[in-house]
Amino acid sequence: MLSAYLEWPSQIRHAVSKWDLVKVTGEYRDIAVFGMGGSGIVGDYLQVLSSQVGRCPVTVVKSHLVPSFIDKYTLSIVVSYSGNTLETLLAFKSILEKRVPVVAVSSGGLLKELSQRYGVLHVDVPSGLVPRASLPSMLFSVLGVLSHSNCSLITKKEAENCAEFLEENLPEIERKAREISDWLFEKAIAEKRLIVLATHSPLEALAVRFKNELNENSKVITKVDVAPEWMHNDIVGYEEPNISNYAVLEIVDPDDSVGAKLVEFMEGVYKEHDAIFRSVELKGGNALEKLLYGSLVAGLTSVHLAEKRGIDPMVTRSIAMYKNKVREIFPVTPWLNFKAT
Ligand code: F6R
Repeated sequence: MLSAYLEWPSQIRHAVSKWDLVKVTGEYRDIAVFGMGGSGIVGDYLQVLSSQVGRCPVTVVKSHLVPSFIDKYTLSIVVSYSGNTLETLLAFKSILEKRVPVVAVSSGGLLKELSQRYGVLHVDVPSGLVPRASLPSMLFSVLGVLSHSNCSLITKKEAENCAEFLEENLPEIERKAREISDWLFEKAIAEKRLIVLATHSPLEALAVRFKNELNENSKVITKVDVAPEWMHNDIVGYEEPNISNYAVLEIVDPDDSVGAKLVEFMEGVYKEHDAIFRSVELKGGNALEKLLYGSLVAGLTSVHLAEKRGIDPMVTRSIAMYKNKVREIFPVTPWLNFKAT
């Protein structure tokens, strides 16, 4: 698991080597990205990038339900690492029924089979990892696919630079991850504190990714707090809190002075309730590099924390349990015959 994260620069380079092979051209009004969990985060990151450097708004759909506004002017991108996630396949089916533009991304599974059967553009990502460890493969494949359309978000050169940036910063990221995992283990876990990921917009997606990594790899419960929205609801809960003892991991972009001040304000409130703090300052020359830097800190931290807890980061027993039951929850037609993976 550790080596999968340490190989992220190679994952990016591999995706960049296929940059011009699968592409969509043409003009779209907007993008909708479908996917759950570790695949769904691709949509979150595309949304962040699009709101900072893009021209096409991105809607993220982590559900089997397809928004009614999706039409022939929307490019739908369906991502499932395994290719067998039921909610994603149900959405894919509805998209096909709408006969609107769609691209599928998976390492195989039914999504690939159905794409081939229905003539849908399909992007293969390397198989053999868990979805969360394959984030760069999925994200950079989609960025490559988009780069020839009017919804392009980054250039091939920027993708190459990002791989180089991560590689150069790997020792520092690894050191940070070890320090944070020590702190989480010795303070947050040992003292039974609630782990809070506090951040400022536009870093919500990264904080959610950090949460997911701690959930899935380290098997802990965490909460995400995002300023300035936090100041308009959550903050009131601290007037008469039903929980105390927080371990707050502050995810801050040091280039964003307003964001840093907002998190400092949050710290003042947590401080009144027996909180301890640790900061993760992001590095990077642009939004993409910062997202990848923070994601790699998150991934490595969560694997180290799992090791300290004597837990296998790879195995997500409860997701498997849900996937085995999911066909009893959703109405499934024979069209979607597959085995849960
Ligand atoms: C992440 C993980 C899950 C899956 C999710 C959807 O590593 O294991 O969050 O990503 O259950 O599965 P896929 O990504 O295969 O569609």
